[in-house]
Amino acid sequence: MMKLLKSLLPYIPGAKFLLMPLRFYNALKVYHRLPSQILSWVFTSQEWTNITYELTDLNKKYLTCFISQITNTDREKVREYLEELENDDNLKKHIQETTLKSPRSFISDAEARYGRRLGWYALVRIKKPKIVVETGVDKGLGSVVLAVALMKNAEEGFNGHLYCTDYNPEAGFLLTEPYSSYGTIIYGDSIETLKSFDRGIDILITDSDHKFNYELQEYETVEKQLQEGFLIISDTAHYSSTLIKFAESRNLKFLFFQEQPKDIWFPGGGIGIAYQD
Ligand SMILES: C[S@@+](CC[C@H](N)C(=O)[O-])C[C@H]1O[C@@H](n2cnc3c(N)ncnc32)[C@H](O)[C@@H]1O
Repeated sequence: MMKLLKSLLPYIPGAKFLLMPLRFYNALKVYHRLPSQILSWVFTSQEWTNITYELTDLNKKYLTCFISQITNTDREKVREYLEELENDDNLKKHIQETTLKSPRSFISDAEARYGRRLGWYALVRIKKPKIVVETGVDKGLGSVVLAVALMKNAEEGFNGHLYCTDYNPEAGFLLTEPYSSYGTIIYGDSIETLKSFDRGIDILITDSDHKFNYELQEYETVEKQLQEGFLIISDTAHYSSTLIKFAESRNLKFLFFQEQPKDIWFPGGGIGIAYQD
């Protein structure tokens, strides 16, 4: 029937209008779950900004390959690190209890959902950095994930420390003991903090002010402190060209991983990463 219709279409005047309902149906096939996902999120989550979610299983496979490619590490090893974080019940309990006690509990979900931060974790576990810097902390979900990776590295004899910046004095409520022994929050404007930061940096994650020129200034401020084998991660690369432009201007490699969030309306962020050959 469809075949016959298709063969007749070129001879029917105004055929393009007849096809409109079919085109509408095609789009609906992709987005029909969206209204129910939005409604379910509105009623089951309390998050307002910086929303959290898990990644689909397929997306975690892509993330594994992405990290493996950048770090030249066996995929099986990368997968082990992703699972290490996902199976860390102490961290899950810490996030749950600390969130419920926090004054921001009414706009935070207690359940630990790491999304792309799984990739941040694996990168720290693989690279064993001495100094990690994260600009933009919010609740401290990324910070606590990075801190636990550094804690595990330290247990294996590789010491490292995380420095985070945020101008909101209430940011970082998740980064308490035992994780705060591996991470320090410096409160104030991110660029001002970076200007007075005088240590070498192995991994830099930018996630504070997402404006193009601000993010660019973050990179320029610390570029001389980047150590051999450094990684720069941008949390804005799914919509901003700041890091890819910086990478091109400095002859660095650049790759991007796109998140596929599981069972939620949000289209996902990603990991933009610049690194040396
Ligand atoms: C997207 S959130 C960070 C999320 C966090 N990295 C995570 O993994 O969940 C952005 C944070 O950057 C902070 N911020 C925005 N502009 C800033 C600036 N100029 N200096 C310092 N912090 C800033 C905000 O207060 C907010 O907490």
